[in-house]
Amino acid sequence: MSSGTLDDDERDATASTRRTGRALIVAIHATTRAIKLYPPEHQAVQKSLAELGAAAADSRDVDGGLDLRVHREFIFVNGTRLRLDLSNYASFGRVMDLFRGAGVGALTVLREAAPREWFALLTLIATVGGAGGDADELGRRLQAAGVDAFEITADADADEDVDVREAAKAAARRTYAQSVALSKDVINSVRMGRVPSARKIKRAVQAIVDEVLTEEASLIGLTTLREYDEYTYTHSVNVCIFAVALGKRIGMTKLQLYELGVAALMHDIGKSRVPTDLIQKTTPLEEDDWRRIAAHPWLGLLTLFQLRGQQELPYRAMVAAHEHHMRRDFSGYPRVIRPRTLAMTSKIVSVADSYDAATSRRSYQTRPFPPSAVLQEMRDNPRRGLDPVVVKAFITLLGIYPAGTLVVLDTFELGVVLAANPNPEMLSRPRVVIVSDGRGNLLQPPIETDLAATRADGQFARTIIKTADPDRYGIRVSDYIV
Ligand SMILES: [Fe+2]
Ligand SMILES: [Fe+2]
Repeated sequence: MSSGTLDDDERDATASTRRTGRALIVAIHATTRAIKLYPPEHQAVQKSLAELGAAAADSRDVDGGLDLRVHREFIFVNGTRLRLDLSNYASFGRVMDLFRGAGVGALTVLREAAPREWFALLTLIATVGGAGGDADELGRRLQAAGVDAFEITADADADEDVDVREAAKAAARRTYAQSVALSKDVINSVRMGRVPSARKIKRAVQAIVDEVLTEEASLIGLTTLREYDEYTYTHSVNVCIFAVALGKRIGMTKLQLYELGVAALMHDIGKSRVPTDLIQKTTPLEEDDWRRIAAHPWLGLLTLFQLRGQQELPYRAMVAAHEHHMRRDFSGYPRVIRPRTLAMTSKIVSVADSYDAATSRRSYQTRPFPPSAVLQEMRDNPRRGLDPVVVKAFITLLGIYPAGTLVVLDTFELGVVLAANPNPEMLSRPRVVIVSDGRGNLLQPPIETDLAATRADGQFARTIIKTADPDRYGIRVSDYIV
């Protein structure tokens, strides 16, 4: 395991490759779409071809050449794996499908390609893809068209360099990004007075449930990606992931998990019927503003009542939308007139909701609370009105130091928590990735370790002494998580 300070130039170089690489993928996607929609001489096609040429030139400038590879769930540009995020996942997915469909594993751009050549390449990739996909055939057709700026090879070394774990993580990332896009879609359509499609919602929830059942740790890790300015959309998805993972702990069946997932994903849908400027207000709320926001539980119930394409009404979701701010002692809202008992779904959604809201960066909360402090407060402050049994299960699920927490170890190393220890007796000993040594030098590569591991003398090798603020150390936690 090599260690030492990460060379700044090296880090900058990778970052530039990624940045130009991402722009290239987005440009390829945009051009393919334009070609599909318009005739070649159309301005939209010409413009996207020009932009694609510029993006390719940038990549060549940065790395001195251009080589694009599609492998499993990944795209590599000049040997660097690109990261999928919420803004580019659609382009990534399409380009991956396109290349795969045409049987293209690698594309090397040998020299600066003319717009005409890019046009021929992308048109052929799209056509050959439809016909079953054969990289050799594609190469021959390019040659016949007098295009020699590219070299194309099939995906030969299929199982070599990317391991299965990495591919599973990438798949989890894709599920997450797709769910966020769906939640954006649903929220915006309700804002515009339309009725969202129950079928689409169900499909997104099914993907989350399936992923929680197989890749729980990766998906929970993804909830800590707070770099996006998309709280409204990621919040529902995060609450859904936490709720489903909790339901699984409690022993719910798959069918129950689906229902719980829909309830969690839609718990705040009533907010889409409250003016956006009120929701995003950074100044203290006037009484009237507050009254309007506090209407979101029953507005949510009404919205769910109207779901399009629904054979049976989503009762649990309606109940949870209505009850998620009531609190155990009914001191919350809406006010309760007759005695009632909160549904289990509502109790679970409330816990997941409180946690995600308190740990997120939002307009009026520039510095979120550290996850471990939030968990403690949820457990110890009765005014939160959460169900103690559900909170306890939640702490067992996340560990005392949830994924994404930056921790200081007794060796003075810094670590980022990756996943909770599955043993409930060992909640303070999660799996971490050590990102810097005892003197503060960043480790390259970082070292993954289990804090439950002991030395030869039976003592624990490393123990957490406290949590730390990643901003203070200039550490981007999300770089290490997935
Ligand atoms: Fe709410
Ligand atoms: Fe919420």
